[in-house]
This record gives sequence, structure tokens and C-alpha cells, in this order.
Amino acid sequence: MVESWEHEEVVTRLGRRSGVPVTVAVHSRRLGPAAGGIRLRQYPTWQDGLTDALRLSRAMTYKCAVAGVPFGGGKTVIALPSPMSPSLRADALADAGELIASFGGTYLGGPDIGTGPDDMLYLRSYTDHVFCLPESHGGTGSSSGPTARGVLAALRAGMSAVFGTTSVAGRRVVVVGMGSVGSLLARELSAQGASVVAADVDPARCAGYEQVDVASAYSLPADVLVPAAVGGVIGPDVRAPLVVGPANNQLVSDDVAPVLAKAGVVWVPDFVASAGGVIYTLSREASGFDHDAALARVETIEETVRTVLASDVDPLAAAVALAERRLSSLALT
Ligand code: PHE
Repeated sequence: MVESWEHEEVVTRLGRRSGVPVTVAVHSRRLGPAAGGIRLRQYPTWQDGLTDALRLSRAMTYKCAVAGVPFGGGKTVIALPSPMSPSLRADALADAGELIASFGGTYLGGPDIGTGPDDMLYLRSYTDHVFCLPESHGGTGSSSGPTARGVLAALRAGMSAVFGTTSVAGRRVVVVGMGSVGSLLARELSAQGASVVAADVDPARCAGYEQVDVASAYSLPADVLVPAAVGGVIGPDVRAPLVVGPANNQLVSDDVAPVLAKAGVVWVPDFVASAGGVIYTLSREASGFDHDAALARVETIEETVRTVLASDVDPLAAAVALAERRLSSLALT
């Protein structure tokens, strides 16, 4: 929740081509230019899109701070009406590109829900300030693989804390959201011997897995719950002892974190678990790391999660404290 105004700069503009409201929210540039994905989806109202941008950009500030990358937090939200045609989508993206360009490099975009490397290439006609172009165009391509790697690293630390082993073999794991990251996780976890239950608004994406509907998935009895879709979904009714996944802003509200901790549910803070994509992409495209070095950096999420879960305060409080320390010291190591 964003309770009071804390953002550096937020612009919502009615796209001149599309008539679609596009928001670029910069929460903080304290550690560097604001980085964050470009989310394109349908929202009931433009206010919902704006609110999402405010929350998501704040999460990016924490994500980058905890990850130790020299970037701040921002986000773009393209709030499409329903239904949308392909030409409206393209026009809305162009409008977003123009708005991102107006930030002059103080906000840098990447892929997010609803956008991918081809869209980043398309946006390049309007702005230089987007990451993750297709590899055929000199970019690092989709950030989904590294994001999934980061979640698996976080999961190992969570598994150790809850079950005393990093192995998921024989565990029942519920993956909610079979999009680009969720589907990779489902595949990898079942390859590691987990029994995967999948849920998605589009049931076709769950093919090959035991399937449940999204509404009941979050409170299903299981060993691990993996939120891999939109946020605002984790309340006190969770029944898995371990919750870790790539979705941003997972909790219904921040007050849920201590409630879960008291109930013995280990929730790995989303902005720690989901940082693999930004860590990999920014390390490669902004800091010049090679593939192996960037992936090695993604793997450090395991150690960060171990530290967060070893704290005597709840995991959210521990992770926020870690972020605040970085934000106030400006010393990134
Ligand atoms: N979608 C990513 C996230 O939420 C954002 C991102 C990915 C930004 C890759 C830049 C590069 O963390």
C-alpha cells in the first residue's frame, strides 16, 4: 500500500495515438536512475493502473536496493481498456515509448507482465531507454529465465528454513500464474521431482500439470505456494508453510507479513525473490558483466534470503530494513 506521497515523479498521460492512459512512476532515484518493467494489461479504471504503477515502482526501489544494483525504482503501466485490438496495443506502446523518452534516461524500462523483448525493440523507435531487446538485436532478451533462476535460489533458502533441505523432490508445489516465469518454474520444479499443481486464468497454460482454479489455488494445502501472477493475492488464509514466487506486491497488505510469521508460514519477500531479472539484465546491459558473472550474481539471492529468514523480525521487516540500510548509506557493495 502507498499510504503517503513518497514518489519522486509520476506522470500519467493520455496517449495521443491510443487514447490510453499511460503512467510512468519514478519512486526513487536515490541509488541511480529508476529501473522497472513496462506493464501492459487491462485495468478496470485508469486509477487502478496509476495505483499499480505507484506500488510497483516502490517495490522496484526495494528490489534494486536489496539486490545491490545501482538503480532506483520505477515502473510504467499501460492501462488498456477491454477489449483491445492489436493496433490499439501498438499505439499504446508507442505512446508509452514517447513518455519514457521524455524522462531522458532517468527512468529505464524493461519487460513485465504483457510485454517482451519484441516490444522492447519496437519501443526503441521512440526511446533508447529500454532494456532486454532480443538477442538478435544485441540485447539480452527475455528476463524470465534469470527471474526464474532467482526464484529457485530463493526457494532453496526457503526450503532449508522450513524443511531442512533444499530438495523439492516429493513436495507438492502450487504455481499460480503460468506466464513466462511461472511456466519455467513449473517445468523446472517438476524436473526436480516436485509434484506441481498449476493454476492460471487461461487453463490451457496448465496443460501437463494437475490443475486447480486460481481462486482456490492460494489457499490450497501444499508444501510450497509460488505466486507468479498479479499481486494483492496473499492473505492470512494461506495454508502452505512456504510462500515464494516472482509476483510483485504479493501481500494483500503489508500487515499480513507479521500475521503469516506468527502462524508459522515462511513468506519470502517478493522484492527479494523476484530480483533475478533486474539483477541479470542490469548487470549485463548496464555494468558489462558476461552471462556467467551475471547469473552468479542472481544466485546470491539464496544468501540474501537466508539472511532475511534468519532475522528475528518478520521477513518483510527484515528485507525492508536491509533495503533502507542501502538506501540511506548509498554504499553499494
Ligand atoms: N519486470 C521486472 C521486475 O518486475 C523489471 C525489469 C526486468 C526491469 C528486466 C528491467 C529489466 O523486476
